[in-house]
Amino acid sequence: MYESELTWRQVDEYLVETLVEEDETLIAARESGAETTMPQAEVAPNQGKLLALLAEMIGASRVLEFGTLAGYSTIWLARAVGANGRVVSFELEEQNAAAARANLERAAVSDRVEILVGSASESARRLIDAGTESFDFVFIDADKPSNPEYLRASIELTHPGSVLVIDNVVRNGAVIDPDSADDRVQGVRSVLADIASDSRLEATSLQTVGSKGWDGFTIIRRAR
Ligand code: DHB
Ligand code: MG
Repeated sequence: MYESELTWRQVDEYLVETLVEEDETLIAARESGAETTMPQAEVAPNQGKLLALLAEMIGASRVLEFGTLAGYSTIWLARAVGANGRVVSFELEEQNAAAARANLERAAVSDRVEILVGSASESARRLIDAGTESFDFVFIDADKPSNPEYLRASIELTHPGSVLVIDNVVRNGAVIDPDSADDRVQGVRSVLADIASDSRLEATSLQTVGSKGWDGFTIIRRAR
């Protein structure tokens, strides 16, 4: 816990109350994160809105998400794609998917969201093999050791112009340790190296502080 963490939280509260309107269904979805296998791992309200804005800025109608949890970011993205859009979200745990289904129902976006329960790698493989229509926007926010695999799958499931966002790339600064024994840190470092060496991808990463502590996003544009 950093001494400044209280201030980061207070600033986030100010920014959220000023600019980010959460309706009852988003509040309920965020709070039900506590019922999942990863309490508090959902994005913050201002981060959820960032995802929605990015998706809207590119006119995304098809969104792919790795890691549903209780569906908080899923609702933001489902609203961003609109009534004729589609969100496919991969979730390993049935317990989390059940919470998400209830939240998506309450948010009245169930009809445009499909949760695929099971290994995200296997679900992605099935979509690739089925020749699924490509996605415009991808949010990678599941088990971190699999980030490199999720990026590879995402490239097969997107098109030039697609935007990809990866969550949790800073992890309290742990990302700078090449010898980290934490396989989540190694998953981030590997995916960042893969992005850097892939000429199809243009990317940057930002550190963030706020109600989620000190972490960060990688934002990628698939150029070709
Ligand atoms: C972890 C994962 C997340 O997606 C997140 O937002 C915060 C923490 C984790 O694996 O610890
Ligand atoms: Mg996350």
